[in-house]
This record gives sequence, structure tokens and C-alpha cells, in this order.
Amino acid sequence: MTSLKKLAGASALAFVAAAGTAQADKLTFYCSAQEDWCQLMANSFQDATGIDVAMTRKSSGETFAQVKAESSNPKGDVWWGGTGDPHLQAAEEGLTAEYISPMRDQLHPWAIAQAESAGNRTIGIYSGALGYGYNSDLLAANNLPEPACWKDLLKPEYKGHVQMANPNSSGTAYTTLATMMQLFGEDEGFEFMKGLHKNINQYTKSGSAPIKAAGRGENTVGIVFMHDAVKQAVSGFPVKVVAPCEGTGYEIGSMSIIEGARNLEEAQKFYDWALSAEAQNLALQVNAFQVPSNKGAETSPSAPDMSQITLIDYDFKKYGSSDERKRLLKKWDDEVSTLPQ
Ligand code: G6P
Repeated sequence: MTSLKKLAGASALAFVAAAGTAQADKLTFYCSAQEDWCQLMANSFQDATGIDVAMTRKSSGETFAQVKAESSNPKGDVWWGGTGDPHLQAAEEGLTAEYISPMRDQLHPWAIAQAESAGNRTIGIYSGALGYGYNSDLLAANNLPEPACWKDLLKPEYKGHVQMANPNSSGTAYTTLATMMQLFGEDEGFEFMKGLHKNINQYTKSGSAPIKAAGRGENTVGIVFMHDAVKQAVSGFPVKVVAPCEGTGYEIGSMSIIEGARNLEEAQKFYDWALSAEAQNLALQVNAFQVPSNKGAETSPSAPDMSQITLIDYDFKKYGSSDERKRLLKKWDDEVSTLPQ
């Protein structure tokens, strides 16, 4: 009797000790969409699954650089959000892992095409068109004409009034650079970037920062995805959204599992969940007005109407390739960013 009791006590202790040392399920989540959306995704996934989520928000190009730098000893598990080009580059460089989700047949063809072009190492989660927004109060106060085209932004009167992000760190700004190549051709596209440089007051790290600054009245024109400008307008700031007259590029915001992820099972769980209509509908809670990739997810009536915008046939294969992205960024560093203003 005594020995049985002892035994039971000992095994109970052993159980407590085991529970005490057991690792809780966890996920290291790299996020390149808007901060508030990243936070909501992290918290909602944690609530739904009990998996502990450690989230870091960095811009698309920065996250790409981090994943590459960590590749011999990966720290991240899943990378969600941000423009597709750096996700495609990561796929090409073998920094992300192949995965075919059972959720895939719920997605729009453009999201699946993104996966297929990258050997299933990434997938589309949302899309959105590039454009710009301006603070209409500041525009009027400075007696500036209302811009409607990309080339309007080259006018000397806008000097010091235009802001965009740095294309090395920001996927939004890289989309801008790649869009100009496709709209105007490489030579004229670079002339455009040089002309624009004269009017730029600051290259920010994050893509949406220029329009947040415009909302706060600290900047006049911000080159951003149109949905980021809409978010400022619906938040009550005097921001007008422009779909440039020449036509424009767009992003396929993407998601990838990191090659060598320590928490692969949790990463796949997150991936499947993030493709569900339910998870994609969370966007509406934080005024994220991208077009969701799940056919059953809701698109807000405030979202820019993609069918009314002249979109170029963005060549993701070319501009998401490792060689082309590196080449264009180096050329921009050498020939544009160093010019006097
Ligand atoms: C914003 C947009 C997203 C985009 C992201 C890219 O958050 O709403 O649609 O994918 O910017 O961020 P980045 O800082 O890399 O330009």
C-alpha cells in the first residue's frame, strides 16, 4: 500500500516535471503587411489554435534580406504579406519551402498562378493596385494643381512635396520602380525616376509611411498602393486617391514558409488558416482594403475597384527574378539615389 502510494506520487511528480519542461507549440511569424493587420493575424491565430506566436513586422525587401541572412540557421517559420516580388526571389533562391495547401482550390486563379510560377514555394494572399494619394488641404494651401498622372509628379512645383519609400527596403517602392520600367521602358523609366527624385522630400523605409505622413499633414503626395491611401481617407484624413492616367502596376501580396523552419507543422497550420475566408475577412476589421485571394472572402465596398483601374500586365516572373531585382535596385542606387536634389 505504502509502496503503491509512493509509486503514484512519484509518477505524478514525473508528469508535473514533464509538463513543466514540455515546449508549448510556437510559431515565429515574419509579417510584411500593415502593422495593425499583422498584429491581428498573430493574435487571432494564437486564439484559434493555442500556438504561441512571436510576430515581427518588417518591410518586404527587409524581410527578404533577413531570411537570406538567416538561411544557414533559419529563425523564422512563416512569412506572410508584403509584395510578391521578394517572395518570388526567395523561392528562386531556395530560401522558402514547397507546400501545397489543401485550401488551394478556394483561391482565385491569380493566387494559384503565383504559386505555380514559383514551384509552390509561395502563394497569393491578396492583390492591390499601385497609385498615389495626396493631402487635399496641403495641396490647396500650397496652390498646387491636382495631379492625375504619373508624369504630373515631375512638375517642378511639386519639389519637396512627394514622398515614396526606398525600393531596397520596401516592396511598394520596388513595385513602383518595376512599374515605370514596364510603363515607359527602361531608359524612359529611369529618366522618370531621376525626375521624380528631384521632387522627393524623403525615401522612407516602409511602403505605406508616405501616405500616413500625408494623412498627418506632414507630406503632400505619397506614392503607395491605392488601398493604403483609401485607409487614410476612410479614417477621416483629407486624402484623395489617384489611379494614374497612364495606367499602373499592382502587387500579388504573398505568403511563404521558410526553408528549414523549426516549427514546420505550425507554419503549415498558419498557412492553411491564412488562406481561409474567415482569416482573410479579418482584414476588414483593420481597414485593409486589398482584394483577398480566397473566393469566398469579402471585399470591402471601400476597396479600390480593380476593374476601373488601367492595369499593366505586370511581369512577375521577370521582376520577381533574383537577377532582375538585384540589377534594378543596384541601378537605382547608383544612378538615382545618389543624384543631387
Ligand atoms: C502595405 C500595403 C501592402 C503591401 C505592403 C508592402 O502594407 O498595404 O499591400 O504588401 O505595404 O510593404 P512594404 O513596406 O514592403 O512596401
